[in-house]
Amino acid sequence: MSESILEMRNVTKTFPGVKALSNVNLDLKKGEILGICGENGAGKSTLMKVLSGSFSANQYEGDILINGKEVRFDSVATAQSYGIEMVYQEINMLMMCTVAENIFINNIPGEGKFVDFKKLFKDTQELLDYAGLTDIYPKEIAHNLNSGQMAMVSLLRAYAKNPKVLVLDEPTGALTNNEVDILMRILNELRDKGVSCIYISHKLEEIYRICDRVMVMRDGEVVGTHLINEVREDELIEEMIGRKVVNLYPKESVEIGEEVFRVEDIVVPHPTIKNRNIVDHVSFKLYKGEILGIGGLVGAGRSEILGAIFGQIKKGVSKKVFVKGREVTINSPADAMEVGIGFVTEERKQNGIIWMLSIKDNIVLASLNDLPGKVFVDNKVEESRAQELYDQLHIKAPSINTKVVSLSGGNQQKVVISKWLLKKPDILLIDEPTRGIDVGAKAEIYKLMNELTQSGISIIMVSSDMPELVNMSDRCLVISNGRITGELSKEEISDTAVMKAAIM
Ligand SMILES: Nc1ncnc2c1ncn2[C@@H]1O[C@H](COP(=O)(O)OP(=O)(O)OP(=O)(O)O)[C@@H](O)[C@H]1O
Ligand SMILES: [Mg+2]
Repeated sequence: MSESILEMRNVTKTFPGVKALSNVNLDLKKGEILGICGENGAGKSTLMKVLSGSFSANQYEGDILINGKEVRFDSVATAQSYGIEMVYQEINMLMMCTVAENIFINNIPGEGKFVDFKKLFKDTQELLDYAGLTDIYPKEIAHNLNSGQMAMVSLLRAYAKNPKVLVLDEPTGALTNNEVDILMRILNELRDKGVSCIYISHKLEEIYRICDRVMVMRDGEVVGTHLINEVREDELIEEMIGRKVVNLYPKESVEIGEEVFRVEDIVVPHPTIKNRNIVDHVSFKLYKGEILGIGGLVGAGRSEILGAIFGQIKKGVSKKVFVKGREVTINSPADAMEVGIGFVTEERKQNGIIWMLSIKDNIVLASLNDLPGKVFVDNKVEESRAQELYDQLHIKAPSINTKVVSLSGGNQQKVVISKWLLKKPDILLIDEPTRGIDVGAKAEIYKLMNELTQSGISIIMVSSDMPELVNMSDRCLVISNGRITGELSKEEISDTAVMKAAIM
């Protein structure tokens, strides 16, 4: 590894009431992969948005040097002209366009107004073949892809531009294991070709797997940079959150009570493949105070099980649901909430959040029916209840009245969770509770889950985070191809037991 291809010097960025970055220095060598980690709201995405030209030249302070020459970015196009490509944390695609159009969005082949579709689809197929993404077709409409496939298409869009510097912000949140392997292979090949990469992730195992160096940010500052083989994981964690985390998975044992919930024969037809079910006759019970983990590979049908129970997925669904032994009809989320079921969704962008409302209003939203004064909400009650959760989860914002749209990705997730922690339904469905959430806040969320179960609430938790699944579940179901292929007791749950059943 040799000369610096990119330097950022004394970069400072403020938003109203927030100093997101202060005097940040970053140095990227040719052909290296630099990891960035740090708590939610530390400034990682903001730093990369400065680099990718998302802010105009007078919206940040500091210098950017490319190959030793000072440049000033005022638009995404300027940054791209220097070979800097960013794949954003949140999915951003033209939903009604094809995969091919999304990949070649700025350089569609053809002359003048005439698009050379033949070449467009051929080039796209070649890219997909190179990546080994056999389940994506060039002519597919983006809208029909699942979120992992969308993430892979976004990656290929950046790849197709032959970047000199590729920036990935939390790229693996929605990916299957196979897609993660593809990503890692592509990054290794790019590194061999001399391309440099910046890789933001909360998943330290990924940082260790792919990065050459790692930079840690806290509260808008860089607190350390290390060669990857010279720093231990616990040292990184301590640097990220400024203290030692003694117990990352503070699961407490709870007395498990009687059956509170049961489903029989859930069937959900596959959304795109005819005559196939994505959930295929799934039945299980849930007991009082229990955390029932649901493991399996991404795409196995786990989220669809939750969506079908909650009445969010309706098309062609059949199921029998019993709450406390009594059969109930759930045709919509409102029906589900009526019988005491809550749902923390996986996709905050689609379901969880109202962007232009404040943190406080989003948190109290699901609970409105329970709070005094249905229409004229009693401000003091909502405020104090929401404030408690805001403090406990360390939601990072100037105040609880800040609009959710301006929060960092992980802090938005904390708002979604708070909403349901306040509502305290009898049965809480949680899909990937801590995706995108930093280690410190994860432990806080687990503590809150303990409190909920100790007060008699039961939780069904879909998780792809293996340590989370293993440590937090009282019992665990494993799903493969829409069916239950394993049921593991507390004593039986382990990485290998889950994986074994997941690939059955
Ligand atoms: N458009 C905006 N308006 C106001 N504040 C913002 C805006 N974007 C980011 N911030 C604030 O800047 C700080 C840094 O946010 P940033 O998104 O860079 O964090 P992050 O390190 O990427 O966190 P995460 O791990 O949660 O994605 C946060 O306090 C955030 O609320
Ligand atoms: Mg971010």
